[in-house]
Amino acid sequence: MTTTMTKSLLPEAMGRFLGCETPKAWIEQALTHQEILLIDHAQCEKKAASTAMSLMYRHVDRPLLLIKMSQLAREELLHFEQVVTLMQRRGVAYRHLSASRYAEGLRRQVSDKDPQRLVDILIVGALIEARSCERFARLIPHLDAELAKFYRSLVKSEGRHYEDYLMLARRYAEDDGVPEVEERIVFFTECERRLICTPDPHFRFHSGLPEAA
Ligand SMILES: [Fe+2]
Ligand SMILES: [Fe+2]
Repeated sequence: MTTTMTKSLLPEAMGRFLGCETPKAWIEQALTHQEILLIDHAQCEKKAASTAMSLMYRHVDRPLLLIKMSQLAREELLHFEQVVTLMQRRGVAYRHLSASRYAEGLRRQVSDKDPQRLVDILIVGALIEARSCERFARLIPHLDAELAKFYRSLVKSEGRHYEDYLMLARRYAEDDGVPEVEERIVFFTECERRLICTPDPHFRFHSGLPEAA
């Protein structure tokens, strides 16, 4: 609704971190495609838990990562249960949806060699969490009371996930001597901005500018 309202919902650091705001046309599209929004949201929560668990399998020698990712995976699965419950209450059937281009578009830029690979995956994680948080915050003023209340709780937890991913990226870049992490963050932020602000034919939770816009 109003920019002030969105800003008060969104942690300030996150607004600065992202390369652009979600286009208004996406918000309008989301409001007219709430079923797809919910189904794809459920998919995203499940995928977020699974990404965190993959990191736990791959990096057993990093206790801080293990603890943070284990907490994160549990929270994402709880979010998944909450979305599925809400869908059931609203008579929205869970069906398969193709993935949006977003996560794959970011992952394509990830290095295939550790430790750069780990740092890249953590930066991408921070961006996905930050964008999810921003979209929840932007949608809240337009939603019914039940969905708005749920999304308000998600703004808080996805905001924490963004902070954890970014902290881990900087920490392991320093520990493992990965150079120029801030430049790498800027690089991925720009990739993310393009995915959000260029035309995208398929509406999803993380899709870009609606094609007709
Ligand atoms: Fe989540
Ligand atoms: Fe999250």
